[in-house]
Amino acid sequence: MLKPEIEDGQASLADPQFRADVLAGLERRPRAIPARWFYDRRGSELFEAITDLPEYYPTRTETQILRDHCPDVAKIVGHGRAVVEFGSGSSTKTPVLLRCVSPRAYVPIDISGDFLRDSARALSAGFPDLTVLPFEADFMRPLTLPAEIADMPKLGFFPGSTIGNMIPLMAVDLLRAMRMSLGLGAMLLIGMDRIKDEQTLVRAYDDAAGVTAAFNMNLLDRINRELDGTIPVDAFRHVARWNDDRARIEMHLEAVRDAAFTVDGRPFAIEAGETIHTENSHKYGPRDARILLRSGGWTPIGEWTDPEGKFGLYLAEAQAERPAP
Ligand code: AVJ
Repeated sequence: MLKPEIEDGQASLADPQFRADVLAGLERRPRAIPARWFYDRRGSELFEAITDLPEYYPTRTETQILRDHCPDVAKIVGHGRAVVEFGSGSSTKTPVLLRCVSPRAYVPIDISGDFLRDSARALSAGFPDLTVLPFEADFMRPLTLPAEIADMPKLGFFPGSTIGNMIPLMAVDLLRAMRMSLGLGAMLLIGMDRIKDEQTLVRAYDDAAGVTAAFNMNLLDRINRELDGTIPVDAFRHVARWNDDRARIEMHLEAVRDAAFTVDGRPFAIEAGETIHTENSHKYGPRDARILLRSGGWTPIGEWTDPEGKFGLYLAEAQAERPAP
């Protein structure tokens, strides 16, 4: 998820897609900027800090589910598959999975090549006999995996409830793309955060120490730094709210007073109370998760949770081209 750094802050060197997304996002109503732009160096550090917060239960909960139930997963998927991780495996979850399914190869996929190679190298150190094939690609589209794993059955791995960042339409597109990429006989192990009481959900995205607020506000600093922005950061505050109709946590940057600024030379004005929508984190009950998987061409064949049912880990197999009625 880490994007290339712009060291000298020159607007001319900024990622053109970042510029386009920010300008278009500030122009539209409601205003919205895609969550992927959170992850510059500082944003990635802040996200790491989020995963250690007492209020942010998803990371530690999913890791514990995997530790507790990996043997059950291995019983179904067997050994000797190629594990294909969507998003480079810098987490502690990856070694837990690799140890129990003993794959023939491991293919971490990420759009950021530098970050990918770093984490692949770190992982290889712990698994000297494993073939590790880092693959730089945008996994939102179907892709041709490395030839070395062409004849191996695949196990896709998509932890972290990252799929929750997408609206259901995009989530289904992604699941279908994964099915195309992984091919016949593939399985998918995917984490999805569950719907639960509103207070627990909101606190996970609005922690007492203010780390998530800093993570959200860092987007404004990044715009000022990389896109020659003049946004008065103190005119905004972090907001995390539960949208019950859509079963998602939304993060916004809310203007606390009227403000005027420029980005890349273009003028913008925002009124007190208006927001910039910066992230969605969709939550799925077990049944919702199964419908989502089926919609994307995957048949659920196993599911595990923690004792309190906070987070879901799902195993699915690629549906045949023409399923029975
Ligand atoms: C990385 C998308 C799974 O939605 O929980 C954490 C990102 N944002 N706190 C999530 C996030 C604010 C996280 N994902």
